[in-house]
Amino acid sequence: MDKMIDKIKKLKKYLGAVILAHNYQAPEIQDLSDFCGDSLELAKICRRLKENTIVLCGVQFMAETVKILSPAKRVLLPAKDAGCPLADAITSDELVALKKKYPAAWVVSYVNTSAKIKALSNICCTSSNAVSVVKNIPADQVIFIPDKNLGAWVKKNISQKEFVIWKGFCYVHEQFTLEDVNQTRGLYPEAVIMVHPECRPEVQDAANFIVSTSGMLKIAKDSSKLQFIVGTEANLIYRLKKKNPQKEFYSLGNARICINMKKTTLSELYDSLVKEQYEITLDEAIIEKARKSLEEMIKYV
Ligand code: 13P
Ligand code: SF4
Repeated sequence: MDKMIDKIKKLKKYLGAVILAHNYQAPEIQDLSDFCGDSLELAKICRRLKENTIVLCGVQFMAETVKILSPAKRVLLPAKDAGCPLADAITSDELVALKKKYPAAWVVSYVNTSAKIKALSNICCTSSNAVSVVKNIPADQVIFIPDKNLGAWVKKNISQKEFVIWKGFCYVHEQFTLEDVNQTRGLYPEAVIMVHPECRPEVQDAANFIVSTSGMLKIAKDSSKLQFIVGTEANLIYRLKKKNPQKEFYSLGNARICINMKKTTLSELYDSLVKEQYEITLDEAIIEKARKSLEEMIKYV
């Protein structure tokens, strides 16, 4: 493994590339990345980088978001088929039909969507800014896509607006149950329970905090508590432990794995650098429109 890591580092230098890793990537990928973060942090950081080649260890929509915000850069996704079923939960035709049905509504799309869907949206949001984005937009009716649990959470926090919420969900977060909360709380009664807003509403209701992956990292750092129960993808725990070695982190029930995030292995990453693959290419008109939705969101962050 060490030899492979050395080879990757040398190749990265030779290509003048930067390696970005999402918080859910395998520990060895997180460790050799130049930056590790949530999907928005990774996209935003690219704009400040001088390097022209970005290797995005994550899933397709994340690499597309980087490309949309930094179109002049070459963006490589090492695992070609690393998709996100949540992002695929709504098609362009379905969204066009919704827009026709609710012409006065603003389409708010979670960043976990394809570039085409972003291009058809009024504004994007992330799990950390969804409530403030929806609160502040000048529309009383909102089509919220594609995640029903995040949508339900936003709706719960904003009573004055009317919501049309799409039925998509993340198969990883959907697996956490109320029983998991009760059992884990029984084991660690002093622990703080943090869950991602992609979890089911009853799991959200039983937690102490409903936050994004970066929100969890912040709570763990700032809290005086020593034990935390984590309701999100298993590898965030590696990052939480690394940043807070004196604290304890437990999964909410069984560890839940996003198989798409694990498709980026050291050998895929090595191949990506050797063969300079798989480059993200997007239609310029799509980039332009999708960028507007993302930039509109950045105004509210
Ligand atoms: P973040 O927005 O925290 O990066 O999460 C993305 C994701 O895929 C959650 O399942
Ligand atoms: Fe998509 Fe869920 Fe995996 Fe996040 S954890 S990338 S939402 S499948």
